[in-house]
Amino acid sequence: MEILDTLLHRRSIRSFTGGGIPRETVEALLVAGMSGPAGKGKKPWRFVVVEDSETISRLAQARDPKQKLFDTASLVIAVFGDPSIADTWVEDCSVAMTNMHLAADALGLGSCWVQVRMRTTADGTPSGDYVSRILDAPEGLSLEAMLVVGNICEHPAPHTAADIDMSLVSWESF
Ligand SMILES: Cc1cc2nc3c(=O)[nH]c(=O)nc-3n(C[C@H](O)[C@H](O)[C@H](O)COP(=O)(O)O)c2cc1C
Repeated sequence: MEILDTLLHRRSIRSFTGGGIPRETVEALLVAGMSGPAGKGKKPWRFVVVEDSETISRLAQARDPKQKLFDTASLVIAVFGDPSIADTWVEDCSVAMTNMHLAADALGLGSCWVQVRMRTTADGTPSGDYVSRILDAPEGLSLEAMLVVGNICEHPAPHTAADIDMSLVSWESF
């Protein structure tokens, strides 16, 4: 699929059929994640791929309310940034998240971004701290977000160019 078609075709998918995803496909997602631009090329991102269903169920509790989409997911990719490497770590990790999310769609998989920064668990623990403890994250890394990935049940209708709100754009000045 051409890149512009993929951009319109991509949707957030929150319900999956279950089953695993081949290792080479997961690696293709990671290649996509790490091939994007990063501030000064510093690449402050770190990735943890979680396929263990028990760990995935614990990750589902990272947010309040619990995010149901984890229930049928095949895997979760947690994207951490190292603020000591680059002050653009949030942007860099967001680029990686977006690239993986798009690549998942292009590979026929479903995926959804789950926000972690600025979010808490049901008992008020910062979501990033909760996930970092589960994944044994080294001191100094901050969790940006998680990409929940699975085999698609049903792909929602793609976006179309006609859906895009061009009234949000001004030319030359506001
Ligand atoms: C920064 C960011 C945070 C998001 N957080 C969540 C989330 O926590 N849970 C969720 O189900 N979807 C989340 N989404 C997905 C959006 O809800 C989704 O992109 C939006 O509704 C538009 O739908 P579409 O992706 O199908 O075009 C997030 C997306 C972004 C970019």
